[in-house]
Amino acid sequence: MPRPLLEELDTPALVVDLAVMERNIERMAGLARQTGVGLRPHAKTHKSPWIAHQQLRAGAIGITVAKLGEAEAMVEAGIRDILLAYPILGEQKLSRLERLLNEADIILSVDSLEAAEAMAQAVRRSGRGRARVFIDVDTGLRRMGLGPGMPTVELAERIARIQGLEVAGLMSHAGHVAAARTPEELAATARRAAEALVETAEILRRRGLPIAHVSPGSTPAACFEAQVSGVTEIRPGTYVFNDRNTMDRWAAGEADCALTVLATVVSRPAPDRAVIDAGSKVFSSDPSVRGDGTFGHVVGWPGVRLQRLSEEHGVLVFDPDHNGVQLRVGDRLHIIPNHVCPAVNLSDVLYGYRDGRVVREIPVMARGKYR
Ligand SMILES: Cc1ncc(COP(=O)(O)O)c(C=O)c1O
Repeated sequence: MPRPLLEELDTPALVVDLAVMERNIERMAGLARQTGVGLRPHAKTHKSPWIAHQQLRAGAIGITVAKLGEAEAMVEAGIRDILLAYPILGEQKLSRLERLLNEADIILSVDSLEAAEAMAQAVRRSGRGRARVFIDVDTGLRRMGLGPGMPTVELAERIARIQGLEVAGLMSHAGHVAAARTPEELAATARRAAEALVETAEILRRRGLPIAHVSPGSTPAACFEAQVSGVTEIRPGTYVFNDRNTMDRWAAGEADCALTVLATVVSRPAPDRAVIDAGSKVFSSDPSVRGDGTFGHVVGWPGVRLQRLSEEHGVLVFDPDHNGVQLRVGDRLHIIPNHVCPAVNLSDVLYGYRDGRVVREIPVMARGKYR
């Protein structure tokens, strides 16, 4: 099959610099190796079994997913070690969970007795009869999980008494580190959060529950979490591509961003404005953590801001007197999205390229699997 030039690809398109992605995969695997922790990447970023297999080949111990549908897509593609980091409720989902438990080694995750009891029924009905569970702990994000220390300890001990469930680990997602104003604050917040998880695991062990896994997960926090003594594994997701929010959290540079939106300038209606053929249907509307209201980083065009998105249009604004801005209708731009995961979720396919040629179409098999 002829390999089209990147410049011939129809736009808008999500394009992946495969060399950069491979370097990102290897770097995170290297961090895990050097610090002696396991790596269980969150597949929510790429939603692609092909990329998950690359992460596993590079040394990942398994993968993480959020939804049953994502787990099903990964199992279908032959992946067998999966942390399902989301409580499963409702008869339809519990029947699917029962089937999945028969096909793969699924670790469950819960933060309530109610969900644990419901999931235990599916576990007992399955051929396995028993499943490992991670308790989701709130180390500062204020999303899922009870607080570290006694609230989690008491919940874990009650869940451990449910027939069919083996409380094997504690997990957290330190998404709150994104609010840090300096790299030092980010490092301190990430360490504190991971330490809280480790301390909670130690209390549980002293009380007789053998907690084997301590699993924090976040890209900007990963290098700090991995160095906290007692952490056994990390679960970053975004690192595989990185994005503008990761750049703004000091965890990646422009050259580490593997995925860009390739877009075409379709209008130059005013001296200070250009319009591209990619809007919220391509980028998603996720905000920038820097809070400047823009939607991506335009590679190679300093001073050009992606200021507004409607569904099919992206509006670029710039200073008309700035010499560098010579954008013309038909020009093609690479733009790093604020948050790469929801952007990937909007595309059927990613285009992998090397040396300016598209060498692979990567189907986003687990996109849109919100159940
Ligand atoms: C439960 C959980 N673990 C891990 C991650 C990965 O974090 P990041 O996107 O910072 O890599 C996420 C991201 O949302 C998450 O929700």
